[in-house]
Amino acid sequence: MKVRTVNTALDKLKEDVIVAGIFEGQKKLAGAAAEIDRATSGLISAARADITGRLNQTCMLYASKGLASKRVLVIGLGREKDLTLDRIRGIAARAVKCAREAGLTSAALPLQLIPGSSCEPALRAAVLCEGALLGLYTFRQYKTAPDNGEAAEFKQITICAGREHSPSVAAAVRDAETVCDGVCLARDLVNHPGNTATPTYLADTARRIAKTCGLACSVFDEQKIKRLAMGGLLAVAKGSHEPARFIVLEHTTPKTAHNAPVVLIGKAITFDSGGISIKPAANMEEMKTDMSGGAAVLGALQACAQLKLPLRVIGLIPATENLPGGSALKPGDIVTSMAGKTIEIITTDAEGRLILADALQYAQRYKPQAVIDLATLTGACIIALGNDVSAVMGTSEPLIERLRAAAEQTGEKIWPLPLYAEYDEQIKSDIADVKNVGGKGAGSITAGCFLKKFAGTAPWAHLDIAGTAWAQQPKPYAPKGATGVGVRLLVELLRKWQQLKP
Ligand code: BES
Ligand code: ZN
Ligand code: ZN
Repeated sequence: MKVRTVNTALDKLKEDVIVAGIFEGQKKLAGAAAEIDRATSGLISAARADITGRLNQTCMLYASKGLASKRVLVIGLGREKDLTLDRIRGIAARAVKCAREAGLTSAALPLQLIPGSSCEPALRAAVLCEGALLGLYTFRQYKTAPDNGEAAEFKQITICAGREHSPSVAAAVRDAETVCDGVCLARDLVNHPGNTATPTYLADTARRIAKTCGLACSVFDEQKIKRLAMGGLLAVAKGSHEPARFIVLEHTTPKTAHNAPVVLIGKAITFDSGGISIKPAANMEEMKTDMSGGAAVLGALQACAQLKLPLRVIGLIPATENLPGGSALKPGDIVTSMAGKTIEIITTDAEGRLILADALQYAQRYKPQAVIDLATLTGACIIALGNDVSAVMGTSEPLIERLRAAAEQTGEKIWPLPLYAEYDEQIKSDIADVKNVGGKGAGSITAGCFLKKFAGTAPWAHLDIAGTAWAQQPKPYAPKGATGVGVRLLVELLRKWQQLKP
């Protein structure tokens, strides 16, 4: 898909369709709708009775004169007071998907699609571009033939900035494309089945993006993982024939090469059967998504490199399957983590925290200025917050606040859970330093408390994305399946990083 930014007048645009918006309850046409109406001597006015402006209502109109384009898609923007950045993403997605369903392959999205918006032109352009690109995402790699009635692949999105055109608008669109590439990389990795997206495949992908984007990459094999004494990762990997990998990616610039880095850690269980504490069969196929944290870190690192962000970022991805093979880890076993702490295994299905413990320990050798981990860690997180909100926990209020500000901007909602000392009682073991499960209550929090024991002294935050990484129902700008959650959030956080902390 190509995205371009132009300042062409709307009547000269040659795209298959031009999109214009109307607010619910809006009396007079404004913005792109007004401009198109003038050029066509009242095309939209004539259909006005059918258009309420209700959010995402669409109405395709055919222009016989006045426009170089044949069609105008009028889209409802909802109530003006309810408009948010995230709504704009959804509106853009809805518009281009509607065009695609009509068999079209190009669309023009004018910035004035949102009439009289107070939102900066560059930001408006970026969110329109994001909504369109992420909304059009499909994953068809395993379809050997098109589905019945399947629409043609969309070819071009044109962001039409008109009088608001400026170098900053064009740059914002290019950056949005880069970030969306990162999101789509993460979505692809998560959508791939477990027999494709193995730890080795993730490592190969890391090497490939390192090469094309200019990142440093090392991949530790099982021998090296043993030498490093990553007892948690090794313990989980024991039950599978697929070899584990520990992936290290590094982005920096000449000026920042010696700075303390921000370390991003992503859980990458490429299939979580539960191990010996095997999961019920129903929906077990969804456990191919248990590497979503790792996928988000790969996507974010790719974007950081392509955006040439002026800071040092390390990505750490412990990757393995969790299977119940003959030499698998067992309930009751005690493993020694890289940090030297002993962990009593109560259930082998609480495996994410075991591999994250080693990654958190490994992170400390960088003397990081912050550590953030992302993991599809607990089913309890879905019970607590559902499928639209991730949980955030950690040891640093300022870091959590920054993440919340970034989330506000990207629409990837997060909500804090507390790590009070009382919860630590739940993970005390009778015979080891800690146990890997904290009993019935507060499952997401006790998982967070477990991680905290390995998080060291740097400011640390943990995002539980168990509910948000995978959509069972389509979302406004994500089809069913992998959402790529976390990529935009991390990139937004890191883009603002320098401004907040010089
Ligand atoms: N990968 C799962 C968590 C999960 C559940 C992710 C649903 C996505 C959707 C994790 O490894 C797990 O199995 N957690 C257990 C922990 C429990 C045994 C303490 C869980 O949540 O049931
Ligand atoms: Zn598990
Ligand atoms: Zn898991």
